[in-house]
Formats: sequence, structure tokens, C-alpha cells
Amino acid sequence: MKAAIYPGSFDPVTYGHLDIIRRASEIFDELTVSVLNNKTKTPLFSVEERVKMLEEATRDLPNVTIDSFSGLLIDYAARKDIHVAIRGLRAITDFEYELQIAQTNRKFSDGKLDTVFLTTSLEYAYLSSSTVKEIASFNGDISECVPDFVGRLLYKKYNEIGAGNEQ
Ligand code: PNS
Repeated sequence: MKAAIYPGSFDPVTYGHLDIIRRASEIFDELTVSVLNNKTKTPLFSVEERVKMLEEATRDLPNVTIDSFSGLLIDYAARKDIHVAIRGLRAITDFEYELQIAQTNRKFSDGKLDTVFLTTSLEYAYLSSSTVKEIASFNGDISECVPDFVGRLLYKKYNEIGAGNEQ
């Protein structure tokens, strides 16, 4: 059985992520989407909130599980006995950074963790969680970027913390 991990910040999950999740779930028997609990970043949503959003957004995909992790991806993957990480590539600007991380992970896992890249569908190539947050923080229309329930949570969050504080 072939399993893979799709790690990320998912702050919040976008249609771009969901496109990669759906396609990876068709290639692999089991896909674990895992939210990085990164103490050095200040995310807009807590890990618990991001996990819940991903659970809701992937409810129709039976072979997708949502989880979270701290520390190195290679250690987390080893604990789960999973040997493939999925990452989405939007543009050439993503490539250099992603290549470096993929090679680091392969080297430091002694070849046990490989990375499979899926190219983001063209309609989502412009999308990032950061731009979605910025637009939402000014009450802009994000209906083409995230599922409706994620949009509502974004507007609610910015109502609480104040417009323009996109974090
Ligand atoms: O959605 P993101 O923020 O682009 O995801 C980045 C992520 C979570 C894949 C990456 O930062 C990661 O794997 N972090 C865990 C620490 C780690 O293993 N780093 C790689 C070696 S430098």
C-alpha cells in the first residue's frame, strides 16, 4: 500500500491546496495531510482550527486523514513509516526553495523520504494563503480562493482582530 504525507502550514487551506490534496489522494492509497505546528511563526489560525478546516474540506475523500506535527518532517514521516512527501509547485519561484527542502529531507533521512511534486492547476497558480489573508483582512472577495466556510472563518477572525492585521 502506498502512503504519502502532504505537510504544510495551511493557514488557511485554499482551493490550491485542495486541488493538490484531491489529486494526491487519487495517486496514493492513503494520504495524511499534516499541519506544521511551528512555534517560530505566528499563524492566523491555531493548529486545532487549521486541522478542523482541513477535516471539513476533505470530508468527501475517504483515504485522506488530517494530522499535525512539530519538529522535522523526516522524523514525523519515520514515526508514521511514510516515505513520500507531497508538495505543490505553482511557479518557477517555488522551485528553488522546494528543491532545497526536498534534497535536504532526502539526504538527512538517508534516502528514506522522497518528495513528489504536483504542479498546481493553472486556475490556482496565483493563489497563496498569504494573499488570501491580505484580501480577507480588507473585506475583499475571496470566494474563488477558499471554500465558503473558510471564508466566513477568515472574515470572523479579522472582525475580532481588526482589519488590515493580516498576520
Ligand atoms: O505550507 P508551507 O509553510 O510552505 O510548508 C512548509 C513545510 C511545513 C513543508 C516545511 O516548513 C517543513 O517541512 N517544516 C518542518 C521542519 C523541517 O523538516 N524542515 C525541513 C528541513 S530544512
